[in-house]
Amino acid sequence: MSNPDHPPAVGVLDQGPELIFPPGFLWGAATAAYQIEGAATEGGRTPSIWDTFSHTEGRVVAGHTGDVACDHYHRMPSDVRLMAELGLKSYRFSVSWSRVQPNGTGPANAEGLDFYRRLVDELLGHGIEPWLTLYHWDLPQPLEDAGGWPARDTAARFADYAQLVADALGDRVTYWTTLNEPWCSAFLGYGSGVHAPGRSDGADAVRAGHHLMLGHGLAVQALRASRPQAQLGITVNLYPVTPATDAPADVDAARRIDALANRFFLDPVLRGSYPADLTADLREVTDFGHVRDGDLAVISTPLNLVGINYYSRHVVAAPVQGAEPEPYWRSPSCWPGSEDVRFVTRGVPVTDMNWEIDAPGLTETLRRVHDEYTDLPLYVTENGSAFVDAVVDGQVDDADRLAYFDAHLRAAHEAIAAGVPLRGYFAWSLMDNFEWAWGYTKRFGMVWVDYDSQARIPKSSARWYAEVIRRNGLAAQ
Ligand code: FCB
Repeated sequence: MSNPDHPPAVGVLDQGPELIFPPGFLWGAATAAYQIEGAATEGGRTPSIWDTFSHTEGRVVAGHTGDVACDHYHRMPSDVRLMAELGLKSYRFSVSWSRVQPNGTGPANAEGLDFYRRLVDELLGHGIEPWLTLYHWDLPQPLEDAGGWPARDTAARFADYAQLVADALGDRVTYWTTLNEPWCSAFLGYGSGVHAPGRSDGADAVRAGHHLMLGHGLAVQALRASRPQAQLGITVNLYPVTPATDAPADVDAARRIDALANRFFLDPVLRGSYPADLTADLREVTDFGHVRDGDLAVISTPLNLVGINYYSRHVVAAPVQGAEPEPYWRSPSCWPGSEDVRFVTRGVPVTDMNWEIDAPGLTETLRRVHDEYTDLPLYVTENGSAFVDAVVDGQVDDADRLAYFDAHLRAAHEAIAAGVPLRGYFAWSLMDNFEWAWGYTKRFGMVWVDYDSQARIPKSSARWYAEVIRRNGLAAQ
């Protein structure tokens, strides 16, 4: 049976027995405040590091900024209606810290909080579960001026902010993510500097990573004390890291990158310790003197769930003489202490971000977290792909993106079949938006955004996803 409003765009769901997900599986889509809201100077909002960064020449492609973005701040009710039309069970959004607590300290800004109250009410009114991320990379600029995440005090400021949001929204929001992808905040923001605040110092990146996790732990303690029923988690971006060959030097390169990309966060948060090989690899960069007694106990405060963002796999090899340094997250400055490791391109299909498409890596990642770290419920809090889209006759047929989602949902289902307690999946992203250093040049949305008119057009992948949600599954292949 097809819904006449949302006919499936392709035939995949119309054949064969279905691959059904567990009852109550939380189907959602995700966004982040700076990427969609716009209204950068309205309602008492003050600048965050992303405002400063995007307004600094040469930082973002074509000088794009989040000043207007998708204008979601003004179009929120119709955006929520669109989510309801797609049948989303949940919507993962982030709160702009500098909108609700201008300058990052002091009292709440009622007008800023009110925007999120209205958003949450609108979602609940449409039967959509709100999933709130407290920090998706937009540190208030004055906190950066005071030292940013490499400074310990920022962790305490974050916990205060978390408390203020919990006081305002804790009665109606059940699901909370403290941090989105602390690896990116720490290593892209303070290591390579390709993200805000654009600093480049390996020791600062490592300190930032620690203080982000400390802020996470303190926030969990504050939220737990005031909202005992809340479902609390963190979102980490994980990558399987594979050696290019089984030569010992390549295997060791993979170990090092796995330590920096994955275990740097998983071990402290879920085991209460830093991996010994990681601290040894980093000995030329830092002596970890910034870690104080008791920090790791705070960082490993028990959670209710773990959020995982999955996009691709890292394939790495030992250094070779004369290799050209690569850009973005492959840049050596993202990998303090392991700058000489090479990222290998396998020649498999890639997205418009040049990220290799590797759906089995999602199964592998979910199984690893479950097998090696925790029995907690897991959620894929982001998964998606950028492709070059075009509007033809008022439609956007994004077959590549649809195939990416399809393959990754099959991989997620495989993990569930293998016993992983995966409870939900959030597509990145609900709509095209400001893709950080790439500005508006990369489109990840299931919904097309025309940045001139702010018109929204659900792409084929959105209509297909609506059907997946309605059926709670996919056709078997
Ligand atoms: C993730 C971010 C998200 C978006 C996607 C493509 O790293 O969390 O904001 O940029 O990548």
